Amino acid sequence: MGNRLEGKVAIITGGASGIGEGHALLYAREGAKVVITDIQEELGANVVAAIKGEGGDAIFVRQDVTSEADWANVVKVTVDTYGGITTLVNNAGVANLVGVEEETLEGFNRIVAICQTGVWLGMKACMPELKKSGNGAIVNISSLYGIMGTPSMVSYHGAKGAVRLMTKSAGLEYARQGVRINSVHPGIIKTPLADTLTGDYVAEITAATPMGHMGEPMDIATMSLFLCSDEAKFITANEFVVDGGWGAG
Ligand SMILES: NC(=O)c1ccc[n+]([C@@H]2O[C@H](COP(=O)([O-])OP(=O)(O)OC[C@H]3O[C@@H](n4cnc5c(N)ncnc54)[C@H](O)[C@@H]3O)[C@@H](O)[C@H]2O)c1
Repeated sequence: MGNRLEGKVAIITGGASGIGEGHALLYAREGAKVVITDIQEELGANVVAAIKGEGGDAIFVRQDVTSEADWANVVKVTVDTYGGITTLVNNAGVANLVGVEEETLEGFNRIVAICQTGVWLGMKACMPELKKSGNGAIVNISSLYGIMGTPSMVSYHGAKGAVRLMTKSAGLEYARQGVRINSVHPGIIKTPLADTLTGDYVAEITAATPMGHMGEPMDIATMSLFLCSDEAKFITANEFVVDGGWGAG
């Protein structure tokens, strides 16, 4: 156990699985009190049990990130339980491999609601408490696909690109109000989400990754840990790519 997040209270959305689960485990190991939110209740409870098994402190709150009422509840439960909020990781997300003509309005709106609107709602709902902490930090999990384009993923690229610029806008807005806001952009990471991408897609991306393999959830969580710790006190409104070199080519 370390102490890089000692005294922090961190909300991690989509914390029941994959990259979010990695964040929850790592943040608790570094001393944060962790609020895991997700629509997957059983998996969320399992992560809480794992954290408690290691001597950490965590709770699970069921939340759909697209619901403003759910956000209000998460903030209330967190403040009631831990006395405030210092840290927010907007991580929940879904992906689909659909091109411009194949995409439906329903599908497009779903990706935007979860990946983009959910991030804004999270910043909005948590901001009063983050400001009150005097030393708040937000990490928004975008994607390498929020920076570069690829074919046949139009809604996901749009939402993740929006997260990148919403992060810069919000980071500038709150730069003198004690809240740092940065985005993290993963390349291909071994999680259940990557498993939903069909065909040879993942194999092709892995082959295109200069380091020759997929990343792990902890590769992303360690970047976010730094950004949410006080070690990153002069860093805001910026983007951080963790991709095995893929985006450089
Ligand atoms: N895995 C990758 O290769 C990769 C690459 C770049 C970016 N990302 C991003 O990383 C983040 C985490 O993805 P992951 O790979 O760990 O996937 P994952 O499927 O393992 O985890 C995502 C979690 O988000 C939750 N979630 C989905 N919709 C939700 C909603 N409406 N409200 C609350 N929770 C919801 C899911 O239940 C799940 O537990 C996502 O934002 C994703 O876009 C992943």
